[in-house]
Amino acid sequence: MSEPLKADGPLLEAKGLWKSFRRAESTVDVLRGVDFRLESGSTASITGRSGSGKSTLLNILGGLDMPSSGQVLAEGRPLATDDRVARERWRARGVGFVFQFHFLLPDFTALENLLVPVRSLGPVAAADRQRALTFLDHMGLADRGHHLPGELSGGEQQRVAVARAFMNRPRVVLADEPFGNLDDEIGARLGDLLFALHRQENVGLVLVTHDQSLAARADCRWRLEDGLLVAAEGVRA
Ligand SMILES: Nc1ncnc2c1ncn2[C@@H]1O[C@H](COP(=O)(O)OP(=O)(O)OP(=O)(O)O)[C@@H](O)[C@H]1O
Ligand SMILES: [Mg+2]
Repeated sequence: MSEPLKADGPLLEAKGLWKSFRRAESTVDVLRGVDFRLESGSTASITGRSGSGKSTLLNILGGLDMPSSGQVLAEGRPLATDDRVARERWRARGVGFVFQFHFLLPDFTALENLLVPVRSLGPVAAADRQRALTFLDHMGLADRGHHLPGELSGGEQQRVAVARAFMNRPRVVLADEPFGNLDDEIGARLGDLLFALHRQENVGLVLVTHDQSLAARADCRWRLEDGLLVAAEGVRA
């Protein structure tokens, strides 16, 4: 893990991504040649109807899944099917994930949950604890660090999950309907916090959302339609 991540060129690029799911009876072509590009520190939103392939695409961009064909370049390096090391490195160091369901560890406090991604890379340093405490404070959760997830509200749990995604100083945060389960007002407030952290940490952000006003805040707006990414109206990039 000593090799630094490259900083020049696009942060994340996908070329001609194709993803087919084979079932006994049929094959579903979910992605049919998706091209995507995210510059360092910039933001993109992806909307699209349920089942259009948004999560599939995000998982491939984050190295959690592999395309049937096509290529993902993370900081210029291909995440090749046969290169598990490259994918795991990208997943662990390059990417922070926020999912619709928080996936916090139920027996760990909020603070401990924030330290999980750090612990996966090595011993936790005092600076890491301090960073976690700062994030909790930033999220308005300074007095909730010792609460278990079950002792937090849904919005508070998602705030911890958002902060966790930034803990490892990733190059990009991939957020998949992070506020889909929350009411609109709380979702909008969490959107503010997410965009604020993206700016503060200078981290790229790819946000899958059905919330058009949240999507509109991204530098680039995309819609996934018939297996292709098309520019959504109001693109500012
Ligand atoms: N492992 C799998 N095996 C077979 N089909 C799958 C698999 N994963 C996803 N699919 C199918 O691929 C399509 C896209 O799924 P995906 O979860 O990417 O959609 P989505 O756009 O994220 O939807 P939603 O907005 O409901 O989250 C769906 O039709 C789904 O049934
Ligand atoms: Mg989805």
